[in-house]
Amino acid sequence: MRTKIVAGNWKMNKTYKETKALVKELKKSIKDVALVNTRVVIAPTFVNLQKASKMTKKSVIEVASQNMHQADSGAFTGEISAEMLKGIYVDIVILGHSERREYFGETDELLALKVDAALKNNLEIIFCFGEVLEDRKSGNHFKVVESQIKNALFHLDSDAWSHITLAYEPVWAIGTGETASPDQAQEMHAFIRELVAERYLSDVSEEVSILYGGSVKPGNAEEIFSKADVDGGLIGGAALSVKDFMGIVKAI
Ligand code: PGA
Repeated sequence: MRTKIVAGNWKMNKTYKETKALVKELKKSIKDVALVNTRVVIAPTFVNLQKASKMTKKSVIEVASQNMHQADSGAFTGEISAEMLKGIYVDIVILGHSERREYFGETDELLALKVDAALKNNLEIIFCFGEVLEDRKSGNHFKVVESQIKNALFHLDSDAWSHITLAYEPVWAIGTGETASPDQAQEMHAFIRELVAERYLSDVSEEVSILYGGSVKPGNAEEIFSKADVDGGLIGGAALSVKDFMGIVKAI
C-alpha cells in the first residue's frame, strides 16, 4: 500500500518564535488524530529547521528542508548542504518547487544534481514539478511534466525511487486560490504513474507516492485525496494555520 503524505511547505514564513508556537500546537493537535499509513511533514525555513527538528523528535511529525545546495561544501555563500541537514536530523528535502525554478533559476539539469546530492546523503526527496498556465491552455501540460520528471529523475536506478515522493503542483494553482479539479489532478497523476511504469518496473510506479499541491484547503482536500492516484498533498498557505493544516490531515 502506498504511503499517504501531507506535507506543509511554510515557504518564507514564521519567525523563530512563531515556528515554536506553530510546532507546539501541531504536536498537540496531531495526538488526537489516528494516522493510518500516513506521514505528516512540515518544512519551516532553514534557520528554524533545527528547532523544529528537536521539537518533533518524539512526535509523528517529520521535518523537511525547502531546499539545499548540490555541492558537498565550499564557496557557495548563503547555501546549505545535504550533510548540514543530516547533521540536524533533517532527513527530507523538497526539491524543484516552482518558486525555486521561477525566482532562483533552478533548471531540470541543476535539479538532477541536487537529487543526486540528496540521495548520496541519504535524504528523502519530495520532488516538485508542474506546468504554468500557458502550458495548460495550449495543451502542453503533459509534455512539460514529462520532461521535468525525465530530466531530473530518470537517470536514477530503481532502488533510488524508494527515497522519492513526487509532487505535482500546477503553477497556476499555487497560492492563487484556484485548484486543479480533482479530475484534472487524477488525470495528471495517472499519466505520471504510467510514465514511471514505462521507465521502471511497475512495483516502482505502484509504490511511489504522488502528492498534489496548489491551493489545497480543508474544504477541497477530501475530494482531491479521494482520487485513486493522489496520495496526499503539498500544502502552502493552509499549512501556516493549525486549524487548516489539521483539517487537511484529517481529510486524508
Ligand atoms: P499553496 O502552495 O497551497 O499556497 O497553493 C502550495 C505549494 O506551493 O506547495
